[in-house]
Amino acid sequence: MSGLTTLEEPRALRATMFRAEALTAGEGPSISDSEYRSRQQRLLEGLEDEDLLLVVGNPESVRSNDVRYPYRNSSNLLYLCGWHEEHSLLACRKVDGKWSVELFVQPNDIVKEIWEGRRPGLDGAETSWPIDKAHSIEDLDSVLGEMLSSCTRVLVKTGLDKKVDKLVMQALESKGRARQLSGEGPITIEDPSARIAELRLRKSPAEIEMMKYACKVSAQAHIEAMEKAEDGIGEWQLQAIIEGFFQWNGQTWAYPSIVGCGDNATILHYHANDKACRKEEVVLIDAGSEYCGYAADITRSWPIGGRFTEAQKEIYQVVLDAQKAAIDACIVGAPYDAPHHAARRHLAQGLIDLGISEQSLEDALSMGGDLGKWYMHNTGHWIGMDVHDVGVYRPDGEPRLLEEGMVLTVEPGLYFAAWREDVEVPERWAGIGIRIEDDVLVSSNGPVILSADCPKEIEELENIIGTSK
Ligand code: GLY
Ligand code: MN
Ligand code: MN
Repeated sequence: MSGLTTLEEPRALRATMFRAEALTAGEGPSISDSEYRSRQQRLLEGLEDEDLLLVVGNPESVRSNDVRYPYRNSSNLLYLCGWHEEHSLLACRKVDGKWSVELFVQPNDIVKEIWEGRRPGLDGAETSWPIDKAHSIEDLDSVLGEMLSSCTRVLVKTGLDKKVDKLVMQALESKGRARQLSGEGPITIEDPSARIAELRLRKSPAEIEMMKYACKVSAQAHIEAMEKAEDGIGEWQLQAIIEGFFQWNGQTWAYPSIVGCGDNATILHYHANDKACRKEEVVLIDAGSEYCGYAADITRSWPIGGRFTEAQKEIYQVVLDAQKAAIDACIVGAPYDAPHHAARRHLAQGLIDLGISEQSLEDALSMGGDLGKWYMHNTGHWIGMDVHDVGVYRPDGEPRLLEEGMVLTVEPGLYFAAWREDVEVPERWAGIGIRIEDDVLVSSNGPVILSADCPKEIEELENIIGTSK
């Protein structure tokens, strides 16, 4: 990590949450400049000569007064050039017949850098990021104004940055007026998000390595929590073990961890994490890290005391079998919702076999059938740079067929909330919530479980829990 602090080495200033080499001492995977260039090329080759593509960076968020939340740039901007700093905008336009990828960034500023940290600045951005030209974000009005004056279509998602919206609207208006004189314009606006989403939906080999690395650290974090579990441990303490492990390994959480014990495990997006766990309870932990912009999303459910009760085991095994059947359905050419249908059939059959449902399989699966009382969510979602990643599930209204390189989660569950009054909760299973979630790559060799390092068989779990308290 030496040499990370001199401005003479702008490449080293990539050392942030989004530059892999610093966080892993060069051992972790990373995205090469040539891959960024190929992403840009694939996007730009679908555009017209007089288009201007704008990708707006995320705004900063205030936590309290002058304290801000840790900054994370927009996934689209990260995807196209890896730029991680606040106050940025990517602009792509044709200059002399060639696409030029230009980035607005914060300029070097000695006072700001003394207080807040070093900036690559314009020179650093041009030298060390896969772009053709850098501009100061302070010159946005004039430089973007000039870019807008010479294009006929702007591809931009509006509503993200008031200043950018204003400049685009001004250009639209003045071009509209000029039309009377010259017959030229006006500018049209298109949201480029769907084009970028199509690219992001299919992961490259390098992206898969990034996701595997996030899954590896996340799986180990779950194991650490299992090992340290004991009667009375707080949900927040399990959260701290897991998120501390992420941070120790140069990663951050991809979404706030869900740690729910007993009845809290039946709340799908529980986040209070403030109850002490009892040894006879099952805890559900849904936690995944983010590595240089790539997410993992893993859920495991296991008994704090290290032994499932018979009733907990019954539900666990039904969910586990359903999850395995759903993973088997993640194959090239299958509709994206095939895993969901496979999981639902197994869960419904499990409820019938346990006597929780007295309906026929078809009735239990039907709208308003018994399965819906205990399983209320979908079985998965795309995952990538966003934990709930981009990509249309039903283009033209038809389910998308899975392709090599797509990655989705598989996460069936059953939830018997003791506190529910809208249904009759079967007493034997009241207070049990089980979800099992893995991240699965669709490949021509069949499904690949990226999070396979995280144990999920009953015996494996029972052999790990509480071994290092
Ligand atoms: N971690 C949120 C989800 O599984 O979708
Ligand atoms: Mn998920
Ligand atoms: Mn999850």
